[in-house]
Amino acid sequence: MFRDTIAIHAGREDLIALGVHVPPIDLSSTYPIGDLEAGGAAYEMLATGGRGENADTLVYQRLWNPNVDRFERGLAALEGCQEAVAFASGMAALTATLMACVTAGTPHIVALRPLYGGSDHVLATGLLGTEVTWATPDTVADAITDRTGLVLLETPGNPTLDLVDIAAVVAQAGPVPVLVDNTFATPILQQPRSQGATLVLHSATKFIGGHGDLLGGIVAATPEWAVRLRQIRALTGALLYPLAAYELHRGLQTLAVRVRAQQDNAIDLAGWLSTHPAVASVRYPGLPGADPNGLIGTQMAGPGSVLAVDLKGGYAAAAALVHRVRLATHAVSLGGVDTLVQHPASLTHRPVAADARPGGGIVRISVGLEDVRDVIADLDQALDHARYQTPDARAVETTELAGAFGPGGPGRRA
Ligand SMILES: Cc1ncc(COP(=O)(O)O)c(C=O)c1O
Repeated sequence: MFRDTIAIHAGREDLIALGVHVPPIDLSSTYPIGDLEAGGAAYEMLATGGRGENADTLVYQRLWNPNVDRFERGLAALEGCQEAVAFASGMAALTATLMACVTAGTPHIVALRPLYGGSDHVLATGLLGTEVTWATPDTVADAITDRTGLVLLETPGNPTLDLVDIAAVVAQAGPVPVLVDNTFATPILQQPRSQGATLVLHSATKFIGGHGDLLGGIVAATPEWAVRLRQIRALTGALLYPLAAYELHRGLQTLAVRVRAQQDNAIDLAGWLSTHPAVASVRYPGLPGADPNGLIGTQMAGPGSVLAVDLKGGYAAAAALVHRVRLATHAVSLGGVDTLVQHPASLTHRPVAADARPGGGIVRISVGLEDVRDVIADLDQALDHARYQTPDARAVETTELAGAFGPGGPGRRA
């Protein structure tokens, strides 16, 4: 079946037999238990990562929910993976994956920058008991040790939009599983499993939800990984809220048309921005010269709809731009139907080590579904203010965040 058809129908196979056209929403926090022996067996099976369709009772929402399961089946089918496990947010999905590495005795993570600032932060602090080695696409093999549990990468990367050749990293990783954060590309433009990745992560908050009204995360995985992730989810209480799962499952049905229409807008906007006098450079994989390894058209079906501009006026120009937009919203997040702008060094990437943090002149733009002529007009008037700022190379100071999880926490009394 073609991907656009899968997006509409996956996770809905039983609806006709149920006599309904859309999935019923099940918000039960608890479920009646008939036979006590069977209830106990169901509890044990679900709390150790088993699947709910085999259980006599679902026991408790934290262990299993039918709407979450439908969304998982839909996303797994789109990613070409056997299973998927959904979480309360993208960070909860990453956290569970890292905990799985730690509990398996392989706490060493090889990670490629740039990553989303929160992902970078959780790795840099070692909060979950992981140890990180930062690698480049060429140094992955050298960074791997016998304690490495995961290689982690984003492509396109947040916020510089760098592309990484997934198959080349998988080849270097050997037996170590590779996790690709596919949030920016979505399964419509890129399926990392087909390039050899073992795990595919999404902040479903972004394109999959698409309307800026929920948080969610999901990891598409092999059945072995899915069991471990479900067990951790049950124990840590990181289940996706079932109403959000319903919305995310519905979001899959329009994902393909949204992603392509937003991408068309982004292509036009990137072209216009690249000739603007206030702009030093535009980071967008669809621009000439931005994809030296030829990954667009092979690994990725198109360049997507997130881009970044590096402004000639540095921090002052970036601050002027984000304050002056009127149609676009100055806000973090991305992938929704409306255009958002934000300054990564101050916000999403604030916790990142100073030498790896995006420059002060960089503004990230998530292009929405508006008529692109209105988006261009809005950015034109905002950039008019930005272009008259005196160039300013000010850095963003973040001393507090960098050490937020150091020794001296709340554990002991003096
Ligand atoms: C690429 C990427 N991965 C993961 C996350 C974390 O997801 P969430 O905010 O849903 O926890 C984000 C959030 O911005 C992101 O951009």
